[in-house]
Amino acid sequence: MCGIVGYVGARPATKILVDGLARLEYRGYDSAGLAVAHRKALRTTRSVGRVDDLRAAVGEDDAPGRTGIAHTRWATHGEPSERNAHPHTDAAGRIAVVHNGILENADELRAKLVADGVTLRSDTDTEVLPHLVARALDGGASTLEDAVREALRVVEGTYGLVVLDARNPDELVVARNGSPIVLGLGDGEMFVASDVAALVRHTRQVVFLADGELATLTAAGYEGSRLGPPTTVDVDDADYELDGHPDFLSKEIHEQPAALRRVLAGRLDTRFATARLDGLRLDPRELRGIRRVTFLGCGSALYAGQIGAGLVEELARIPADAEQASEFRYRNPLVDPETLYVAVSQSGETIDTLAAVEELQRKGGRVVGVVNVIGSAIARQCGAGMFLHAGPEVSVASTKAFSSMATSFTLLALLLGRVRDLSAAHGTRLVEGLRRLPDAVETALQSSDAVAEVARRYADARSMFYLGRVRGAAVAREGAQKLKEISYVHAEAYAAAELKHGPLALVDAQMPCVVVVPDDELLAKNISTIEQIRARGGPVIAVTNAELPDGLADAVLRVPRLEPELDPIILGIPLQMLAYHCAAVLGRDIDKPRNLAKSVTVE
Ligand code: F6R
Repeated sequence: MCGIVGYVGARPATKILVDGLARLEYRGYDSAGLAVAHRKALRTTRSVGRVDDLRAAVGEDDAPGRTGIAHTRWATHGEPSERNAHPHTDAAGRIAVVHNGILENADELRAKLVADGVTLRSDTDTEVLPHLVARALDGGASTLEDAVREALRVVEGTYGLVVLDARNPDELVVARNGSPIVLGLGDGEMFVASDVAALVRHTRQVVFLADGELATLTAAGYEGSRLGPPTTVDVDDADYELDGHPDFLSKEIHEQPAALRRVLAGRLDTRFATARLDGLRLDPRELRGIRRVTFLGCGSALYAGQIGAGLVEELARIPADAEQASEFRYRNPLVDPETLYVAVSQSGETIDTLAAVEELQRKGGRVVGVVNVIGSAIARQCGAGMFLHAGPEVSVASTKAFSSMATSFTLLALLLGRVRDLSAAHGTRLVEGLRRLPDAVETALQSSDAVAEVARRYADARSMFYLGRVRGAAVAREGAQKLKEISYVHAEAYAAAELKHGPLALVDAQMPCVVVVPDDELLAKNISTIEQIRARGGPVIAVTNAELPDGLADAVLRVPRLEPELDPIILGIPLQMLAYHCAAVLGRDIDKPRNLAKSVTVE
């Protein structure tokens, strides 16, 4: 959620830190700060607001100091304010710490420090850390790493952190437990960040810390007892540029055809009319032994999982469902050895999903990951699964990762179907459909101007309904989620038939209803839903690949028709654009909606 950057090397640290933070701003953004060591003292600057405010506050890019740490914050403990912004320091101003995560026993630790005469200057949990590290050094710890290890012994909770000691400015100490920390290997310099986005401008050679690991970084390299070997990340700095788009959401919506080509690349097997998903590490006998599939995710990943569950039931004829990962671990779930659990996450760092995976593994469940970020915690914890290869998703609202998830689940359902009763002819139809899917999405994107026109008509609504049946139900949920999150217009999704069991009472001329109408066996039912809404004066926006009777809806957003199983992916595209254009009409901060962060690494 928050972002961390650290640097130790021969160049002035300030500019590297601020530029790194700018890359991480999408993860959390209510305040920012940095500390640079120079002449055995810390120069600390903190400011409320965006990274640009911090940039203005630090002034010169080439300020002296070649080691430093920086942070962009999404408030958990304490309101967004300068005194709550990181880095936090000890009383002597010697030790500075930036921290992501939550220290659960912070109140107790703060009370103990206060009882010992320490004056605390913030409301944060993090502030205890520099004091604890300073005490460990005063108490005789021989290295900064030892002092950090000692401090962390009394801490409960999650952390990804970087520690700087002004008296020893040639090194940084990093530690991880539940919040990502990645080292970037430079030539005569080392970087650290909470996300590779801040590193790839300098290096693509990285080391991901695992939970429980500590390391010491110097300009010459890194040392840590249990660190894995460096890996090369497959993202470029250019992936984090707008490339002519007004914002990242527009860029990512329009990148979907390319993202889908990547998620499908090498995974379609024309000869046997199936999918090749070697990363699952399941042989045909094991695939046949699966009796149920449960998708686990949060937010849009959960809605993608609901699309996946529908596809698995339809194509493989085994029971399937999708469950909120956030609920799973707390309700003492029955873990069934014959179920395939699929953990779904763009970031691979969502703490609720990660915790669900750990709970499953503890109880002997078989879990695979469907994840976008290579090297992320969920990907590593699962050890098997599918990478989405959607490329970095910077905008807070998920679009290309969502479509890539739904596409990867179509592949999974096809594979599970083909080791059961799904015919070769049906498999071939789907393989061909999937091959044409990126082009169909490309065509759907061409209606952006028509969607913008609809958005201009309805963006000032106080609330909207999103309705869909079976294949359209999860599409409606995801559409409503997109509208709420980026335009702040309230929206509620219902299975269309549920409308008349209560919510229809809310329908009037001020309640636009977005109805998802696939050209399938439920077309007539969806048409009658639209008629019921119109009869109550409700404006209807139909999103469809069917031929609808003239004048049935107030606005019709059309998409191409491919195979019915692929309808949810294609019908979702206008809904992303509708949310986008409503947010634009309303002048929202599209990439950084208020109160939200890109990856939710705290509970
Ligand atoms: C919505 C959105 C969130 C995420 C959710 C899970 O547009 O982006 O609902 O889908 O926080 O995030 P990941 O997929 O990173 O686990």
